[in-house]
Amino acid sequence: MDTVIDVTGLRKTFGSTTALAGIDLAARRGQVLGLLGPNGSGKTTTVRILSTLLRPDSGTATVLGHDVVAEPQAVRSRIGLTGQYAAVDEALSGTNNLLLVARLLDLPRSQARRRAAELLDRFELTEAAGRRVRTYSGGMRRRLDLAASLIGRPDVLFLDEPTTGLDPRHRNEVWDSVRELAADGVTVLLTTQYLEEADQLADDLVVLDRGRVIAAGTAASLKSEVGGTRLHIRPLDRADLTRVTALVGELAPGAEQIVGSGGELVVAAAGPALLYRVGARLDEAGVAVAELGLRLPSLDDVFLTLTGHRAETGTDQRPEEAA
Ligand SMILES: Nc1ncnc2c1ncn2[C@@H]1O[C@H](COP(=O)(O)OP(=O)(O)OP(=O)(O)O)[C@@H](O)[C@H]1O
Ligand SMILES: [Mg+2]
Repeated sequence: MDTVIDVTGLRKTFGSTTALAGIDLAARRGQVLGLLGPNGSGKTTTVRILSTLLRPDSGTATVLGHDVVAEPQAVRSRIGLTGQYAAVDEALSGTNNLLLVARLLDLPRSQARRRAAELLDRFELTEAAGRRVRTYSGGMRRRLDLAASLIGRPDVLFLDEPTTGLDPRHRNEVWDSVRELAADGVTVLLTTQYLEEADQLADDLVVLDRGRVIAAGTAASLKSEVGGTRLHIRPLDRADLTRVTALVGELAPGAEQIVGSGGELVVAAAGPALLYRVGARLDEAGVAVAELGLRLPSLDDVFLTLTGHRAETGTDQRPEEAA
C-alpha cells in the first residue's frame, strides 16, 4: 500500500492533560481521511504533530516516509496546512498574503503572481484581492487561508476544520476543491465537526474521543457497526400506522419499533427479507405507502452512540446521564 501518513502509538500530554493517549492511523496517496471527535478529543494536536508544529511525547509519525520529529524540514516542504484559526496577516491584502507565502516557499516571482491569481479566482476572492484582510469577513479569511495552504502545490494537505464559519455555497466550493485535489493524488487529512462533511468527503474516518481512537473505517462500515440497517415504513394515510405496526409485529415479533416524527414506523436492525415480506403484506392488505425502504443510521447516530455527544455541540448527554 502506498502509505503517505503513518502514525503509531502517538502520545502527547500537556501538564496533567492527556491530549493523545497513543493513537494509530494511516492514509494512502489520494485519500481523504476524516478525523472526527468532540471538542478536546485531540484532533488539532494530531494535526499539529503531523505538520511538525508540535513534538509528540512518544510514538512515531511519518509523512511521505519522513519522520516528523527527525526530518521536519523534509515534511514541511511537501505539506500544506490550514489551521483551525485563520493564520492570515490582517495588515496585508489578500494578494500580498499569498505572495508572502510564495516567497517563503522560494517560488519565482512571476510564478508566484500567477499562482496567487489562480487561487484567488478559485476561492472567489479576486474582487477583494487588493483589500487589507482586516476588512474581510470570517468566511473570506478562511478561504484565503485555504488558498495560502495550496500555493506550494502540496502532496499532503492538513485541514483543521476547514469549513467552520463558511456558508453552504462556499462550503460546497471547498468540498469540490478537496475532491479535485484528492483526485490529483493529494492526500488530505481533514478534521471536522460536521458529520455531513465527513460523509461527503472522507474515504475513511477515524473517530477520536479523549485522545483515543474509538472507531475507524468507512462511513458505511461505522454506520452498520452502530446499528445495521433500519426499515422505514410511512403509510400514505397516517391513520394506517396502527395497522402497519400490528402487521410488522406479526412478521417480526420482538423487533424494536419506533414511530418517527414524520409519521413513519422505524424497525431497528431489519434487513431485506423483512422489507420484502412487509411490502407484500401491505400490498395484500391494501395499505398505501408513501415510503418503504432500508436505511443506514446517519453518521449523527454513529457519533452519538460512540461518544455520547452530538457532533456539533459536544455537550449533549446520553439520556441515562441526563436523568
Ligand atoms: N498548548 C496546550 N496547552 C495545554 N493544553 C492543551 C494545549 N493544546 C491542547 N491542549 C489540550 O489537549 C486536549 C486536546 O486538544 P485539541 O486542541 O487537540 O482538541 P480538538 O479535538 O482539536 O478540539 P476542538 O474540537 O475544540 O478543536 C484538550 O484537553 C486541550 O485542552
Ligand atoms: Mg481543534
